[in-house]
Amino acid sequence: MDTKAKEALLVKMREECLLGGGQDRIDAQHAKGKMTARERINVLLDKGSFRELDAFVTHRTHDFGMDKKKFLSDSVVTGWGTIEGRTVYVFSQDFTVFGGSLGEVHAEKICKVMDLAVKNGVPVIGLNDSGGARIQEGVVSLGAYANIFLRNTLASGVVPQISAILGPCAGGAVYSPALTDFIFMVKKTSHMFITGPDVVKTVTHEDVSMDDLGGATVHATKSGVAHFACEDEQDCLETIRQMMTFLPSNNMEDPPLMDTGDDPNRRDPRLEDIIPSDPRKAYDMHEVIHSVMDNGEFLEVHSGFAGNILVGFARLDGRSVGIVANQPLVLAGVLDINASVKAARFVRFCDAFNIPIITFEDVPGFMPGVDQEHGGIINHGAKLLYAFCEATVPKLTVITRKAYGGAYDVMSSKHIRGDYNVAWPTAEIAVMGPEGAVNIIFRKELQEAADPIAKRAELIEVYKDKFANPFVAASWGYLDDVIDPADTRPRLIEALKVVQNKRDSNPPRKHSTMPL
Ligand code: HXC
Repeated sequence: MDTKAKEALLVKMREECLLGGGQDRIDAQHAKGKMTARERINVLLDKGSFRELDAFVTHRTHDFGMDKKKFLSDSVVTGWGTIEGRTVYVFSQDFTVFGGSLGEVHAEKICKVMDLAVKNGVPVIGLNDSGGARIQEGVVSLGAYANIFLRNTLASGVVPQISAILGPCAGGAVYSPALTDFIFMVKKTSHMFITGPDVVKTVTHEDVSMDDLGGATVHATKSGVAHFACEDEQDCLETIRQMMTFLPSNNMEDPPLMDTGDDPNRRDPRLEDIIPSDPRKAYDMHEVIHSVMDNGEFLEVHSGFAGNILVGFARLDGRSVGIVANQPLVLAGVLDINASVKAARFVRFCDAFNIPIITFEDVPGFMPGVDQEHGGIINHGAKLLYAFCEATVPKLTVITRKAYGGAYDVMSSKHIRGDYNVAWPTAEIAVMGPEGAVNIIFRKELQEAADPIAKRAELIEVYKDKFANPFVAASWGYLDDVIDPADTRPRLIEALKVVQNKRDSNPPRKHSTMPL
């Protein structure tokens, strides 16, 4: 073959790659409202930045007539590119080739980009759309999955790993995304489950649709498996791009600095009136976050799950921060099992990737109740406590109102290495709320009182004067300051600058034994 013929062959092979499993299957993919693997990469990455690897790989299987069915690139497209100019590795499963099923070479391609990502300190983004283990390859495809699981685990906390679920994701295949840091799903077109509706029907006799079993909404609201339930693929890929702007490329780097143009000295007097005078009334913690953070931007993670706590990314004077905030609007901001697990996971991610944590606290305590106790609130609450205790990134805490009981300790308190802990004058820091406390410590007085109702009201006022304020905690040095709410943004920005070079570490050990 002469040079001209070789060049012509290369062009032909490149064109063949672009066709994946063929135009019919591409049309079928579009008819389902889905993009192809390559179209997704083009939306995810900066225009023209994708460099493909292993485009000419084909499978090596002979059984079941597979030797006659070969497609260039096999059923996954891999390579690197940039998002806002910063490098990421990407793999995108191609449903048009054997249903995106994962066999030996498909997994080898994914493992190659994962190994390169860890070696070069670059995030990995996986776009999943697959019928699971390639049935024709049998146990080889199971081993191939395990090779990926191992790499997911070893890359955890070294480079950010993001999974988008853009089609079926069933069986053990769900465990690669589950080992990554964030899972994005798309409403109606993506599904994750260990076994599909047919198997469920056989084993438990339950009738359930694909969507009700493992659709995006279910996983983003009930199970908490998905962090984002996106409206469509475009929305999903654009949200991943947005998230990447907050993250460093690896655990040795700081997150990127961005010129947001927002004035670091900007005060907001509206915050002085945000806390209702009745302590039982709620307000929306989103408003506090939007007011304090650069340009009001807040990429909320897990927004549909455990709404009593808010977590997500924002910026303070251009620096990425992770927000953890009790939400008085939902269940009075109480810490229950789901809220504890949601926030613990987020805190650990931020700590692994050098993202300072800003905590806004208004929490009446841990959720009482038989369900919570029997569900293991002790163990799950301990996860959040553990995560905050263990975190060595800068930790800044603002108590806006309630900080009661164990929840006071948990929410990034001074005692567990909070770097800058402040409160608004409206803060109430005590073992419990006035009503509960008076019932316990003044039980005898209340029983003996001529007018128990009036006596109770009087004792509640006494208790409030003593504890329903930030000044007792401030007098012990448990708070560094009590600040004007309007100054929250400038004060946090100043403090963040001071602690940006913080050095802190935990004792050397093989690994901790956190309460999982
Ligand atoms: C090989 C597969 C395949 C698979 C689909 N295809 N799944 N080929 N191995 N696992 C092929 C089909 O033969 C078909 O090929 C093409 O992909 C599209 O599939 P359709 O069924 O026509 O598409 P659709 O109707 O959209 O249904 C998609 C589907 C269904 C829901 C994913 O194909 C399906 O149920 N597949 C099997 C899913 C499964 O049980 N996988 C194993 C899970 S267990 P042609 O040539 O016609 O285009 C598992 C273990 C992992 O993954 C363990 C890790 C530890």
